[in-house]
Amino acid sequence: MRAVRFHQYGDPQVLAIEDAPEPHAGPGQLRIRVRAASVNPIDWKIRAGYLAEMMPTTFPAIPGSDAAGVVDEVGDGTSGVAIGDVVFGLAVSGSAAELAVLGAWAQVPAPWSLEQAAAAGLVSATAIAGLDTLGDLAGRTILLEGAAGGVGSAAVEIAVARGARVIGTASEVHHDFLRSLGATPVTYGDGLASRVAAVAPDGVDVALDLAGSGSLADLVKIVGDPAKVATVADFAAAALGVTVVQGAANAATNLALAAELGARGSYTPRIEATFPMERTAEAHARAQAGHTEGKVVLTL
Ligand SMILES: NC(=O)c1ccc[n+]([C@@H]2O[C@H](COP(=O)([O-])OP(=O)(O)OC[C@H]3O[C@@H](n4cnc5c(N)ncnc54)[C@H](OP(=O)(O)O)[C@@H]3O)[C@@H](O)[C@H]2O)c1
Repeated sequence: MRAVRFHQYGDPQVLAIEDAPEPHAGPGQLRIRVRAASVNPIDWKIRAGYLAEMMPTTFPAIPGSDAAGVVDEVGDGTSGVAIGDVVFGLAVSGSAAELAVLGAWAQVPAPWSLEQAAAAGLVSATAIAGLDTLGDLAGRTILLEGAAGGVGSAAVEIAVARGARVIGTASEVHHDFLRSLGATPVTYGDGLASRVAAVAPDGVDVALDLAGSGSLADLVKIVGDPAKVATVADFAAAALGVTVVQGAANAATNLALAAELGARGSYTPRIEATFPMERTAEAHARAQAGHTEGKVVLTL
């Protein structure tokens, strides 16, 4: 099969299209013919070697953590899905390839394109896992730090669907985007507490950090209790008594919940840019530069 591969850590130019061995679905897994895959921060962090100590890479490696496509192989003991189904989910083999093995998936809901479905994989699972740690959101005010990116834009819509009032932080250029998702925007950085107080004079009930920008202590102060704050990206969490969210936890359930919201029109995965697989290096550079509205997606 054709796949994007890299043979050493480095900048996006280490990525090249090559022939690679086909992966196969193990027990409880399935394989898809990939139609679209997304770029997540973990993909460019692994490619750049930033995670070399924590998660050493075996070369050659195929990047990519999620994808959408058509099921073409079903592993032993895998149930509830058939060859020909159109699914999206989390990849256990690199997803920037013609074929990828998924370990957790859901059927693509009718309103979504395959690009949107690919854009929903890791971010919707992570957003739901994060929101779940904060309890019932109906009628509560939630502060989302880093609300315009991949996980953030998913978390805004899903929190709104759960009945929360959402305050989201972003650079000013993304404030209209946040309003369009249903959030009240504020700018992140120094002075956050007073900007949040101005739009939420009755206070904030819970906060979810989706940026890992070092603001966790400020979020704890704003909310007043570390038990009501969670992060998907900040390693200082334990010292502050804040929960760290694992995006892959309960992934099958959470992807199904995301698909249900998609079917109801309550969650539409947002795409900043799409690139054909042949231009994966550009896609990585775009995602790594940050400040996207939603996701960068590869098409096959
Ligand atoms: N725990 C897990 O399982 C898991 C799963 C998925 C992702 N993650 C991690 O979660 C983080 C976000 O992922 P993503 O896919 O959403 O990335 P992304 O699409 O690149 O979004 C990053 C967001 O961070 C915001 N940001 C940048 N600097 C900031 C600052 N100083 N203060 C507050 N916000 C700031 C950006 O906002 P502006 O564009 O408005 O500047 C952007 O919205 C990454 O670190 C990723 O590795 C963890």
